[in-house]
Amino acid sequence: MENKKTILITGGAGFIGSHVVRRFVTNYPEVDIYNLDALTYAGNLENLRDIENRPNYFFVKGDITDTVFINKLFQEHKFTGVIHLAAESHVDRSIKDPISFVTTNIVGTVNLLNAFKGVWEGNFKDKRFYHVSTDEVYGSLGESGLFTETTSYDPNSPYSASKASSDHFVRAYGETYGLPYVISNCSNNYGPNHFPEKLIPLFINNIINYKPLPVYGDGNYTRDWLYVVDHAIAIDLAFHKGKNHETYNIGGFNEWKNIDLVRLLCKVMDEKLGRAIGTSEKLITYVKDRPGHDVRYAIDASKISKELNWKPTVTFEEGLEKTVDWFLSNTEWLANVTSGAYREYYTSMYTK
Ligand code: NAD
Ligand code: DAU
Repeated sequence: MENKKTILITGGAGFIGSHVVRRFVTNYPEVDIYNLDALTYAGNLENLRDIENRPNYFFVKGDITDTVFINKLFQEHKFTGVIHLAAESHVDRSIKDPISFVTTNIVGTVNLLNAFKGVWEGNFKDKRFYHVSTDEVYGSLGESGLFTETTSYDPNSPYSASKASSDHFVRAYGETYGLPYVISNCSNNYGPNHFPEKLIPLFINNIINYKPLPVYGDGNYTRDWLYVVDHAIAIDLAFHKGKNHETYNIGGFNEWKNIDLVRLLCKVMDEKLGRAIGTSEKLITYVKDRPGHDVRYAIDASKISKELNWKPTVTFEEGLEKTVDWFLSNTEWLANVTSGAYREYYTSMYTK
């Protein structure tokens, strides 16, 4: 069928990507959804077991940095939409190995833009390239203020610099070639399937195992937390209803200092595990700070809220409880992802 909609989701086996794939496969049965993922350490097909047999779901293992492969894939399937999430996503890894962030996040994104342009240039009507980005491109806030869509880019880590660069390429393809795009910049996500190198899942895993909770610096860094399903809902809305060549900021209206969040998590975990309140807090250990650590992120999400009628569907307390419940009932998932290479990563990051 010539005009059948076919959407490519990159990075669909990762944390956020798997929630986006699930939503699109379930909500749009008339659309073929292709999940392209290299299955790096962060990609896990277990995240999608519940929908893998749906007739409109297709998995392709492949690397977005492989130009020949990507061009061939686009020529073969003529994707009418792309939702691009594949990336190296962890700030601490970017400090140790910036080059892989340049390769995947910048070169990989440009490869996808080129392939999309190669198929549709001259016929961009009803096509869309959706680029999933981060609030970290805006740098760090002081005590007050919020990131808006017009805040200047000021990235501080190799990760955020690579994401900022990829955003610029997307815009440049829009200006230069008329490529239709939407970009969204989202705050910190949390929820089921979160890889346990990031703060919340790492600390959940360590609490389960009575291991130290390594709080960087004085713990007074602030992040704006959003439940991952609410991010997937926002992406769905902005992909379908967002204006061409626009950026949408997505955030949880939910700022927490790391140390306060960790204390709340300790309390929830103690309750869920039937441990005496205070048990997990004793595991808190202040460790050397992250170099170039951004002090505060906070998103002004009023544009997506007003234009697309989006708002988070769960409170942080509800979302955190759902998250803890998910990890406690998915111990096999956790055991699988924390074996092998994860142990080496953990030792190199946290054992001096
Ligand atoms: P993740 O690390 O959990 O998943 C990344 C996925 O991309 C993995 O499945 C991995 O296998 C895949 N991938 C990596 N390199 C690839 C390559 N070269 N080719 C094909 N696939 C590759 O990341 P996440 O936390 O789910 O983030 C997804 C996207 O959302 C990223 O672009 C990230 O910058 C952005 N983002 C994340 C957050 C957050 O809080 N996690 C917030 C805002 C924006
Ligand atoms: O803001 C959006 C970004 O949020 C995304 O673009 C990134 O992909 C995602 O990883 C996340 O980046 P952060 O660096 O904010 O997330 P992380 O979970 O690594 O850290 C959250 C805060 O917790 C940060 O201030 C650092 C601190 N931290 C983190 C770890 C892993 C600790 O104190 N100890 C830790 O062991």
